[in-house]
Amino acid sequence: MTILLQMNDADAAETWRAALRRELPDMAIAVYPDEIRDPSAIAYAVVWKPPRGMLATLPNLRAILCTGAGVDHLTSDPELPRNVPVVRMVDPGMTARMTEYVVHAVLHHHRRMREYTAQQETRTWRELPVPLGQDRHVGILGLGELGSDAARVLHTLRFDVAGWSATRKHLDGVASFAGNAELSAFLARTEILVCLLPLTGTTRGILNRDVLGRLPAGACLINAARGALLVESDLLHLLSTGRIAEATLDVFHEEPLPDTHPFWGHPRIRVTPHVASATPPETAAARIAENVRAMQAGHRPWPIVDMAEGY
Ligand code: NAP
Ligand code: GLV
Repeated sequence: MTILLQMNDADAAETWRAALRRELPDMAIAVYPDEIRDPSAIAYAVVWKPPRGMLATLPNLRAILCTGAGVDHLTSDPELPRNVPVVRMVDPGMTARMTEYVVHAVLHHHRRMREYTAQQETRTWRELPVPLGQDRHVGILGLGELGSDAARVLHTLRFDVAGWSATRKHLDGVASFAGNAELSAFLARTEILVCLLPLTGTTRGILNRDVLGRLPAGACLINAARGALLVESDLLHLLSTGRIAEATLDVFHEEPLPDTHPFWGHPRIRVTPHVASATPPETAAARIAENVRAMQAGHRPWPIVDMAEGY
């Protein structure tokens, strides 16, 4: 019984192999594609973004264990084996990293650091007014594993935090808005919007001119989820009118972001190269191992992606 390991580069594959070996010393690990001799021996596939159709070539596959939290690149594979559970990554190391990114970006916008950086360039000594954190309304789209942790930490930092999700949440000090009926009310009170939604058929393009236009004028956007949630031309338009003041973007329709893309040189957009929370193998390999051991013992892995919902 073998674990197939698919990563997008050889260094990442070796790091993951070492981490998985520590956790599962008795399992054989074969890195895709070079080490796959007998596809029928593969019981578990540990994957990031496998080539389309690849998983369908493994006749005895028992689980697809994704090293990422987002599984849109798997659910969009028309040949994905429908009888095999897809398990996504939930890991405290990954959650902590995402919360660091979100908190940093919220503080950047809240404390007007872009403007201070511009002022430094012209040696300008001028104080800019900033509300207290308790009067700064931060809203998080997606109150799942990542969004709820970011919400808790932002609340601890005394921000006024709300979240929007499909179902109502009960998080201390965090206002919960649920479903489409409550989206407008959530947006109307949100000055810094953080997107941590999964990319699904329902959420694709949700950050569009209409939805972002319901934020108060001068709001900021942080998208650390998936690029296709955002209609990029709509953001450029809203920035040009001042409706949106600034954005921090970690994810894009096309990655790497093409050289010629207007986001690179935009004075009100900060770009990071999909690094908000790269999965840390040093903690996340243990999550893969827990699921492999659970399945070997006849239990269900966790959390299994709901293929109808797409997350
Ligand atoms: P999760 O636990 O599945 O949480 C998703 C949240 O979104 C849930 O609260 C869910 O509501 C809500 N949601 C989904 N569809 C919705 C809809 N149509 N309307 C309203 N709410 C909806 O996911 P996660 O682990 O927090 O990860 C979120 C995303 O972050 C991933 O899918 C991935 O794309 C992205 N990500 C990016 C990076 C990076 O480095 N940039 C790293 C990791 C993850 P319910 O709770 O009510 O179901
Ligand atoms: C990274 O983008 C992830 O989904 O884990």
